[in-house]
Amino acid sequence: MKFKIAVLPGDGIGPEISEQGVAVMNAVCARYGHQVSYEYALCGADAIEKVGDPFPEATFQTCMQADAVLFSAVGDPKFDNDPTAKVRPEQGLLAMRQRLGLFANIRPIETFDCLVHKSPLKDELVRGADFVCIRELTGGMYFGEKYQDNEKAYDTNYYSRPEIERILRVGFEYARRRHHHLTVVDKANILASSRLWRQIANEMEPQYPDVTTDYMYVDNASMRMIQEPKFFDVIVTENTFGDILTDEGSCITGSMGLLPSASTGEHTPVFEPVHGSWPQAKGLNIANPLAQILCVAMLFEYFNLPEEGRCVREAVRASLDANVRTPEIQVAGGAQYGTREVGVWIADYIAKG
Ligand code: IPM
Ligand code: MN
Repeated sequence: MKFKIAVLPGDGIGPEISEQGVAVMNAVCARYGHQVSYEYALCGADAIEKVGDPFPEATFQTCMQADAVLFSAVGDPKFDNDPTAKVRPEQGLLAMRQRLGLFANIRPIETFDCLVHKSPLKDELVRGADFVCIRELTGGMYFGEKYQDNEKAYDTNYYSRPEIERILRVGFEYARRRHHHLTVVDKANILASSRLWRQIANEMEPQYPDVTTDYMYVDNASMRMIQEPKFFDVIVTENTFGDILTDEGSCITGSMGLLPSASTGEHTPVFEPVHGSWPQAKGLNIANPLAQILCVAMLFEYFNLPEEGRCVREAVRASLDANVRTPEIQVAGGAQYGTREVGVWIADYIAKG
């Protein structure tokens, strides 16, 4: 296959992990005879500084013309501490989601046995936990009508039937490809938007007789996720609930630095680590590149190249087993590897076959 990849390194540790994602992409393409080319584009605080816009038109065009976007991270404390800032890096992320029509955010929560001890949960609860959270990404309160003055404010949790149907379909299809268990997470006891979600999910259920569908209120789901994470196979939920639940999910695995995500929808899909830009670590060569590298696995899987995906996952596991790890997951007394060294080790492992 011929891949045209838009690379958006962004801010903080973004450029460093991006480099390793590209190195691994190159190694897999070389091994399996794919051609790949890259187009780099600005986003986040970096883009605000250079062109005054966190998701410039030129970046949008580069994304539209690519087969996939390899995204790293955006965010800079400069903006967090400035309440008067008119534009913020995060707005670039929302603009990208909206303009590329990325309505389905797929966040796999996978645990690695060798990292289970880093989890805040007991070993037996978390070992073997493996589920996918499908978060609606272009609707709900994030994008609904908003209002704010000094006395009142509101955000509208608007969802239309087609928006709900298309994301539920992604959920059902995912469950079908996994362990046939879908949990629809909502707040149907309180919210009208949730009641419509539940109604539509009920209507769709007969089309997926091979999938066991259950319904859970979001407060209960957040509790269940720490009490019994192995209960879940595929979760599907709206934008805001998905934002919160995926942070919870990511920390129970032991390292947020290991979780990739895919955002897919109407136009070019985006592959992005779940973690942020970790500005304090910028340039120090200590950030874990594995989430970004696993994004490359998800990218190949998206294009129906499971063998290439497996090859990346196997190389990541081998690096962990060989203790080639960045400081935050290194075992006591083990050698310390940098972002670059871990990436190079994995790319070499793939090249050697
Ligand atoms: C995420 C992030 C974003 C979100 C922010 C940075 C806009 O928290 O991707 O989960 O809230 O969606
Ligand atoms: Mn979030």
